[in-house]
Amino acid sequence: MDNELIGISQNMRRIRELIDRIAQTGLNTIICGETGVGKELVVQSLYQKSDRVGKPFVKVNCAALPDSLLESEMFGYEQGAFTGAERRRRGKFEQAHGGVLFLDEIGDMTLPLQSKLLHVLQGGDFTPLGSEKSVKTNAWVIAATNHELEKDLTAGKFREDLYFRLSAIKIFIEPLRNRQEDIPYLIDYYIQKYKREFNTRDLVMPRQKTIDRLCTYTWPGNVRELQNMLKRVMILGDGEENISALIHPGAESSPPEEISPPGVTAVSAPQVFDPKEIGDLSALSLKKMRKKAMDQVEREVISYVLQKTAWNRSKATKILKISYKTLLYKIKDLGIQPPPDALE
Ligand SMILES: Nc1ncnc2c1ncn2[C@@H]1O[C@H](COP(=O)(O)OP(=O)(O)OP(=O)(O)O)[C@@H](O)[C@H]1O
Ligand SMILES: [Mg+2]
Repeated sequence: MDNELIGISQNMRRIRELIDRIAQTGLNTIICGETGVGKELVVQSLYQKSDRVGKPFVKVNCAALPDSLLESEMFGYEQGAFTGAERRRRGKFEQAHGGVLFLDEIGDMTLPLQSKLLHVLQGGDFTPLGSEKSVKTNAWVIAATNHELEKDLTAGKFREDLYFRLSAIKIFIEPLRNRQEDIPYLIDYYIQKYKREFNTRDLVMPRQKTIDRLCTYTWPGNVRELQNMLKRVMILGDGEENISALIHPGAESSPPEEISPPGVTAVSAPQVFDPKEIGDLSALSLKKMRKKAMDQVEREVISYVLQKTAWNRSKATKILKISYKTLLYKIKDLGIQPPPDALE
């Protein structure tokens, strides 16, 4: 089955349980987690298990469109509402009536549009652009984001009232590095799947040694990155040149040589934190410290690669072996500043 949520970790078990409990309720749900952790998969699974299956499943990517287009995409418009509106167009809310409206990347929605969305969620109706009549909707709204919305709330980037409306149920998917026990199951599942899909005799099965490395790597791009790596290994083989992006087990805090692209050497060693220098003992949570150390390593490596590629982000993604979206997210999240002359 394609919507199967693989994994034995506490987090995966809890999420499967939640899905079974809420699929029939239509309660507004928000799914949070880093890129590639499986947010869309969870939404699909909720839909499949609900009694709305067979009714429309409509997805809106809130990050992909500028505000005005997103508004007309969501709420639709009447003929003549603006220049170029030659005929009436139903918005996604209307299309999703009776089914599911999946608002992806909701954390990227601007504040004015957030107000409009809040209004719809409060009243269950909305008015398409240029129309005088309001339209009722009973779509089940499920949202997803890779932002830490609580931070956005504090920073005033996300409306608190909207957050509470959207999050009757909140599902947080842990990054893969925090549930390493799931990795062997995911590897197994995807090896079987690719064997069926690629349908060629030349596929290479990864050696145990490689699988061990896959199991201990930290997977910043999460399951999507794992899938890509497996595809690559099964097609090109698991020689060092194909898996060199993988960090050796336990190497998070040592100089990340394996991340260095050929020809780029001597990435400066990240500073190791000295716990003695941190006066406030309550700040010494291992989880927080690990995140801090990881952020520091990532900041240094990404800054270095960007500097070496003259801020050519496409080249940088190839070297770092992460997606373009992940790179943009990390640049923003880690506060990496482009030099004034870098091309946007
Ligand atoms: N627990 C899981 N079991 C099986 N497959 C998974 C699991 N989690 C994620 N995947 C697969 O990994 C890929 C990425 O997942 P998905 O697209 O749902 O991520 P996402 O969180 O929506 O990422 P993004 O924020 O980048 O949109 C998909 O092909 C999905 O099916
Ligand atoms: Mg997604």
